[in-house]
Amino acid sequence: MTQQTIQQPGQRDTQQTDLGPLVPVLFGFSAFQQLRAAAELQLFEYLTLNGPSSCEQVADGLRLPVKSARKLLLGTTALGLTDRGPDGYAPAGPLREALEDGTWPLIRNIIDFQQRLSYLPAKEYAESLRTGKNEGIRHLPGTGADMYTRLEQTPELENLFFRGMNSWSELSNPVLLRQVDYRGVGRLLDVGGGDAVNAIALANAHPHLRITVFDLEGAVEVARDNIAAAGLADRVDVVVGDMFGGPMPDGYDMVLFAHQFVIWSPEQNQALLKRAHDALPPGGRVAVFNAFADDDGRGPLYTALDNVYFATLPSEDSTIYEWREHEEWFAGAGFVDITRVTNNGWTPHGVLEGRKRDA
Ligand SMILES: C[S@@+](CC[C@H](N)C(=O)[O-])C[C@H]1O[C@@H](n2cnc3c(N)ncnc32)[C@H](O)[C@@H]1O
Repeated sequence: MTQQTIQQPGQRDTQQTDLGPLVPVLFGFSAFQQLRAAAELQLFEYLTLNGPSSCEQVADGLRLPVKSARKLLLGTTALGLTDRGPDGYAPAGPLREALEDGTWPLIRNIIDFQQRLSYLPAKEYAESLRTGKNEGIRHLPGTGADMYTRLEQTPELENLFFRGMNSWSELSNPVLLRQVDYRGVGRLLDVGGGDAVNAIALANAHPHLRITVFDLEGAVEVARDNIAAAGLADRVDVVVGDMFGGPMPDGYDMVLFAHQFVIWSPEQNQALLKRAHDALPPGGRVAVFNAFADDDGRGPLYTALDNVYFATLPSEDSTIYEWREHEEWFAGAGFVDITRVTNNGWTPHGVLEGRKRDA
């Protein structure tokens, strides 16, 4: 007969349990705030301009008490965002690369987006899971059940959203620009195209494309300005409309849904695909570009963490779906030749393509 030892609270052998891996989870919010403070106080810009610097020099340059600079530099260094060498502190790891390759301003916009839009609503995550609704929306001003309706009512927040969204798209859209074959596509409809970030990038990368950005009034105004500023008004135009109501514009060879299927329910996504299928000519193509979840329910980590934002804010049903689910919607809407275009970058973005049968 074996005897089981039951440990009483207070008698646990804490040496046996390595809770170290819990540290970045328990303090996830602190890790983000270290990065956010460094961004707001322009630590990385200072170190780039001035070279390796001591704590006192950083304090002086950023106009901080020395005790504050110490905390900040300890935080960024322990997180691998800066390093301390014999000459002082300098940007390190992914941060140094982002500063060198020009990605840093995009990351800074995303930090701003996380801080001012996603952060407070994220504390409603458990409540959102309980009710199945985007409970974080109560932290946004205005009325309406989805974030986009509310953003339209607060231009300052809408601008913040589009700056962040634009940066997410710029970081993740190389797979859309470079790995999809646009031969045979003359006219492309960018449904929910936002501020035209992808339309402009596509038009620049593929000079034969003519693109229409189809979105709500507020977004289209921003898109119009961006298209004009990019000097692309002759090849990129805009149409105001509701993708769920009224007719889907027709006369296009390809319909693109970029960062769209993460917002809506499976039924709405399937309905959008059916509308696209109806609007396309025989042989026309559809492309869905966004982040995906793995089919095995195990990750990736980016998707799992980003889902807190999708659960708490955009709409009641927003979430990052699995590739497999997208494929089922495509097939259900009548598309064939369904193909995954995956990317090897750090975000789980990809493109799922399909084709309407030839007549
Ligand atoms: C997540 S953003 C994606 C923007 C852009 N496609 C991108 O990838 O950066 C979603 C876009 O869908 C638009 N949208 C939301 N509801 C819409 C509707 N009912 N009809 C048309 N556009 C809509 C929003 O205005 C917003 O621009």
